[in-house]
Amino acid sequence: MKTAIFSTRPYDKSMLSDANREAGHDLRFLEDRLTPSTVALAAGCAAVCVFVNDAVDAEVLALLARQGTRLVATRSTGYNHIDVPAAERLGIAVVRVTDYSPHSVAEFAVGLLLAVNRKIARASARTRDGNFDLHGLMGFDLHGKTVGVIGTGKIGTIFARIMTGFGCTVVGHDRYPSPAFEALGGRYATIDELLDCSDVVSLHCPLTEETRHIVNAASLARARRGGILVNTSRGGLVDTEAAIAALKTGQLGGLAIDVYEQEASLFFQDLSSTIITDDVIQRLVSFPNVIVTGHQAFFTVEAIGQIMRTTIESLTAFEQGRELVNLVRE
Ligand code: NAI
Repeated sequence: MKTAIFSTRPYDKSMLSDANREAGHDLRFLEDRLTPSTVALAAGCAAVCVFVNDAVDAEVLALLARQGTRLVATRSTGYNHIDVPAAERLGIAVVRVTDYSPHSVAEFAVGLLLAVNRKIARASARTRDGNFDLHGLMGFDLHGKTVGVIGTGKIGTIFARIMTGFGCTVVGHDRYPSPAFEALGGRYATIDELLDCSDVVSLHCPLTEETRHIVNAASLARARRGGILVNTSRGGLVDTEAAIAALKTGQLGGLAIDVYEQEASLFFQDLSSTIITDDVIQRLVSFPNVIVTGHQAFFTVEAIGQIMRTTIESLTAFEQGRELVNLVRE
């Protein structure tokens, strides 16, 4: 099936081509993000394949429908970048990758926590410069601390399991309690109770209207002074300006983020030779107790392999008129 692959990077091209070897879909690889001005590149394609920063809004979907596209396949779990009700109205099916190594993201969240708490990136930069001074590098033991997990689904529960291995107490907040989380000894709390008792808070819920800015000025004020916030989920979960204000006063002791509210115009590209005009991200990276990575928590061989295989399976199922097991429904 003719499919336009937007936001293609070299690893997408090689791994999706490998996964497509037997299926033999006609893949059109495009480096561009999907926007109203690039949608024409998908003309004649029954399917388009997108990634997290492609803007698949009502306008783009209407243009795609007019060009004959009937399937949007996102190479991600999250689908907040797709207007699913608009797609349904236009008769466009939306599929995602519900299941791919949740370990990739959970392990990365732990890595970010360690890096920000123990100042590992700063220490490495110092030793490269011949500076072996420890001043400013002190962290705290995770052992014996309380870790709040907001969203105890697949990733949140694995993250919690790893943290129990460190000797932490885990407290969760979720609309649907998970027996797997409770089996770890995790207890559930309201978001306020979780903030009251947690030394570390890690976000693992999807971005929805309900969860947008779930971490805001009021919740940061309520949290334990000097605590660490980790966000590997979606940038919109955190009010970034409020986080910066809390970092300035020391109320927030450390921030580790793999996702950022305004990441669409920054992430997945090399901007090192340009002037970055986003003052918020520039302010964030200037803090010694902040670590920012460019949405790479999913980026392991296992996860990418599974994402590509599932995407190709969805294309084939759609072409053959079979049930779409990864269909997104509103
Ligand atoms: P999941 O669907 O297994 O778990 C999400 C959990 O959040 C569910 O238990 C759900 O009940 C809960 N939830 C929903 N609304 C909530 C609310 N208002 N308050 C508290 N909890 C709520 O999803 P999974 O696979 O664990 O992924 C979690 C998120 O991680 C995804 O939505 C995505 O945004 C993010 N992600 C980030 C990646 C990265 O590379 N940085 C890669 C993959 C996922």
